[in-house]
Amino acid sequence: MTPSFAVKLFINRMIWLRLARACPFTSWRVMLYRLMGVRIGDDVFVGFDVDFDTNHPELIEVGNHVTISHRCMIVSHMATDVATPLQRFYPPKSAPVKIGNGAWLCVGAIILPGVTVGENAVVGAGAVVTKDVGANTVVAGVPARPVKTLDP
Ligand SMILES: CC(C)(COP(=O)(O)OP(=O)(O)OC[C@H]1O[C@@H](n2cnc3c(N)ncnc32)[C@H](O)[C@@H]1OP(=O)(O)O)[C@@H](O)C(=O)NCCC(=O)NCCS
Repeated sequence: MTPSFAVKLFINRMIWLRLARACPFTSWRVMLYRLMGVRIGDDVFVGFDVDFDTNHPELIEVGNHVTISHRCMIVSHMATDVATPLQRFYPPKSAPVKIGNGAWLCVGAIILPGVTVGENAVVGAGAVVTKDVGANTVVAGVPARPVKTLDP
């Protein structure tokens, strides 16, 4: 890890994320996540205790009119941070995450690296999303599977 990346990580974790997670005002929360580097569109609601990846927030893009309910987690990298044989199977990797316009991530949803959630899609409470979600599709469960399609 380079010194500049370590400083960025420290600031993201100790300042922006901590402030954002507990901030009582929606617009300020969104502003703090933007300062952390997450690309967030217009008219976006982010609930309390939402975790955006602090290693690579710049890989996360949230469209317009998106609702991200409390306690969601959006992850854009994977890495075991210690020397372990597992690194042979799971080398450090990062991948972009995109949340389409009008989508809703219900409370406690987890979005994994590389996933695109389509426009006006819904991710059910507590779902773990491992694959792309189509537009106007409702997914739920662990791993998330489509449960219905909405007529736009
Ligand atoms: C995703 C959600 C909006 C879907 O609502 P809905 O369209 O009314 O869905 P339904 O109740 O018709 O459920 C359809 C199927 O998906 C299942 N399902 C729905 N939500 C689920 C979830 N979170 N986890 C697992 N399965 C779920 C239902 O059990 C049902 O399965 P069945 O057909 O086998 O009976 C809703 O279930 C949900 O998760 N709401 C969370 C609300 C929230 O986050 N509030 C926070 C404040 S913003």
